[in-house]
Amino acid sequence: FHFYFIRRRQLPPGPFPFPFIGNTYSFAHTPIDTCVQKWKDEYGDVMTVFMGHVPMVTIHDSKLIYDMFVKDGDAYIGRAQQRWNEIFRPAHTGLIFSEGSLWRDNRRFALQVFRNLGLGRNIMQERVLDDVTLLIDFTKKELNAGTTEFNFFDELDISVGSIINSITFGYRFSRDNRTEFIKAKKIATEQVLFGGSILYRTMEEHRELFRYLPFFRDTYQMIMNHTAEFTEFLSGQVATHRKNIDLESDEEPTDYVEAYLKHQHKLDKEGVKDHPFSETQLYSGLLDLWVAGQETTATTLAWMVIYIIQNPEVQKKCQAEMDEFVGDRIVTLDDKVNLNYVNATVAESQRLCNLVPINVPHRTTRDVEIRGYKIPKHTVILNQISTVMYDERYFPGAKTFKPERFLDEKGKFFAPPELMPFSVGKRACLGEGLARLELFLFTANLLNQFKFGEVPGKPITGERIVSATTAPAPWVCSISVRH
Ligand code: HEM
Repeated sequence: FHFYFIRRRQLPPGPFPFPFIGNTYSFAHTPIDTCVQKWKDEYGDVMTVFMGHVPMVTIHDSKLIYDMFVKDGDAYIGRAQQRWNEIFRPAHTGLIFSEGSLWRDNRRFALQVFRNLGLGRNIMQERVLDDVTLLIDFTKKELNAGTTEFNFFDELDISVGSIINSITFGYRFSRDNRTEFIKAKKIATEQVLFGGSILYRTMEEHRELFRYLPFFRDTYQMIMNHTAEFTEFLSGQVATHRKNIDLESDEEPTDYVEAYLKHQHKLDKEGVKDHPFSETQLYSGLLDLWVAGQETTATTLAWMVIYIIQNPEVQKKCQAEMDEFVGDRIVTLDDKVNLNYVNATVAESQRLCNLVPINVPHRTTRDVEIRGYKIPKHTVILNQISTVMYDERYFPGAKTFKPERFLDEKGKFFAPPELMPFSVGKRACLGEGLARLELFLFTANLLNQFKFGEVPGKPITGERIVSATTAPAPWVCSISVRH
């Protein structure tokens, strides 16, 4: 009663919530991003949606998002605690769902490790290019063997999986024996699918109840089993590191686990009590890096390939640019400045695929006022990046693929502030630097080496499957060598 009739009146307007399930019943027949878009058109740039019985204030205006999440960032730095996450990781742990100093110190540490492993320098580029080259060689080998139909998503998937695995654990997956990758990937997929489900979005506080209902009990059990398998995978990696590591050595760590264990050891040795680098935090952080770092980038690359197949003139323009500035060698970051059209194609792929249909919810850390509404501390709040990137005010003809929108009159690439696939502010994507590197190097090199097309009789629908991210319906493509 309190929520629906008293609290609701104090919050920005929004669709009428039903008791217990709030507005999530709408997601049963319409994808969540379409619902939110529709409500935005009806209720405006500041509105409230009920996820189960939890109200979520949702912001759609780009300038307001910057004023709140960037200029007044600390007020929105909290993270909504979604109880279903406790299936995957203990509450309030890891990098995505932690808060306070635990989050701040671990986020800072992870970014430092990424930098030490070479992000922003040539070393990380080389790591990524190794996987780009392996993918190119594999594709050429398949073509020589007479393959005419490629399930290319699987190949992008294992390439991106290998990069995050080599950063976290120090090795890449084999293409000849994919069992280990497939096993690890299963839990990533499950988190993404489950994280986008109605059940997840509704049952914030009622998990225990649903765990005993027949249909949900099975789903619950299946997820628990796969999570146990993934934990086993993580424990195996950490155990191998522990066995081989010299904690006293001054040598630069070569992966995240090594860096973490050494840091932990240093703090323990210095006698620092209750530091935020616990064993639980290590596991939850690894899970977050693996899941957030794998599925997102692989799926964005899949959309990029689909868009350039569906827009052959874009593919030709990218390739013409590469012929002019690169030739048949491997494209590197040094070429980026010349490849304006390729940069615009990557940007437009990210915008149009609109990977994250509902951003990860934040929560306010103090009372705030937004456009006259008084929003109390601990309210769930969200900068809705996907409506911004489909907003006709910022991107006319928003549902069409048009890389030219990111080129100025001199043909130079520019990224407007409304292009925010990684979100903005202090909780923006931790992997943005790595993801940008991967997206550019894979896109440029694949388009330079190959021509992509449809397989006769197997058109690519480009249908959007919306869960916690938006993936394309299964597709295959044809490939030919350009050089
Ligand atoms: C958070 C997008 C790749 C790790 C996020 C958020 C978005 C996002 C929208 C939520 C931001 C917010 O709360 O406002 C993407 C996209 C990617 C990508 C579109 C690729 C195309 C990666 C990669 C990694 C990563 C490669 C890791 C290596 C994380 C982590 C967070 C996060 C740890 C939580 C940050 C925090 O709460 O402080 N990402 N991401 N992401 N991402 Fe990414």
